Amino acid sequence: MNKNPDETQLFWNRVADDWDQQVGDDGDSNRILNSDPVLWQFAGDVSGATVLDAGCGTGYLSRKLNEKGAHVIGIDFSEEMLRIARSKAARIDFRIDSCSILRTVADKSIDIVISNYVLMDTPDLTETVQAFFRVLKPGGHAVVVFSHPCFPQEYATTTDSDVAVTYQWDFSYFQQQKCIEPPWGHFTSEFIWFHRPLSDYWKAFRETGFEVVDFEEPRISENRYHLAKNQKQLNTSKNRPISVAFKLKKRRQQNTLR
Ligand SMILES: C[S@@+](CC[C@H](N)C(=O)[O-])C[C@H]1O[C@@H](n2cnc3c(N)ncnc32)[C@H](O)[C@@H]1O
Repeated sequence: MNKNPDETQLFWNRVADDWDQQVGDDGDSNRILNSDPVLWQFAGDVSGATVLDAGCGTGYLSRKLNEKGAHVIGIDFSEEMLRIARSKAARIDFRIDSCSILRTVADKSIDIVISNYVLMDTPDLTETVQAFFRVLKPGGHAVVVFSHPCFPQEYATTTDSDVAVTYQWDFSYFQQQKCIEPPWGHFTSEFIWFHRPLSDYWKAFRETGFEVVDFEEPRISENRYHLAKNQKQLNTSKNRPISVAFKLKKRRQQNTLR
């Protein structure tokens, strides 16, 4: 692992306890109401599969994968995140590693890579997608869920009912850039993430050699309405996407002509 942790690594170490409060043992409300059902649908039957939870954080998803019978490897570059993850599930194989290198994961050894709200947090999109591709077995899938770059929560102002919303931007949507935001949710310090247009993600997947087999903008389904804690949360989940979800496939045989 990098002996000189970069700014993002230091940031995630600093906020690990805040993050544990944010996601708890079952994921935060956005995951429960909107994106986790899509994630599980895209992942399919994980029983017996070797699954890499890339950027596992405090490990709520690793634990759920483990409960469903997957052989889980959870990696994260934050020692503090993994300290919490290990304290909750010593049985799981948690490793310190960078998503953009995956030094601890062998080539073609993974059936499913799942990366849940990580791609917008890493400065190295292309390297990360290439690392996911390298460790997947031919025919394997990657399920990536990340914050919707067109509907950034940080820039949204809503009415009390949360039906009407305005977004205020002070930079070009097309410009990739590091963003530093004031604390939100359970965070006690400012928040670092990386904006890029949606098409940059799409191009990174295709240029790496992935086939894009499914895409969704997760929203609440009627059978989950009762899980919303209040009307505002329900309206947000019904009216606009907080995330995007891609299901990617590493073909068994790569096309030589593209
Ligand atoms: C928003 S949290 C999501 C954590 C977890 N996937 C979840 O859904 O609760 C982002 C996580 O990605 C990790 N992360 C960000 N960039 C990373 C990188 N380049 N390599 C490894 N982990 C990274 C952070 O340490 C943090 O734990």
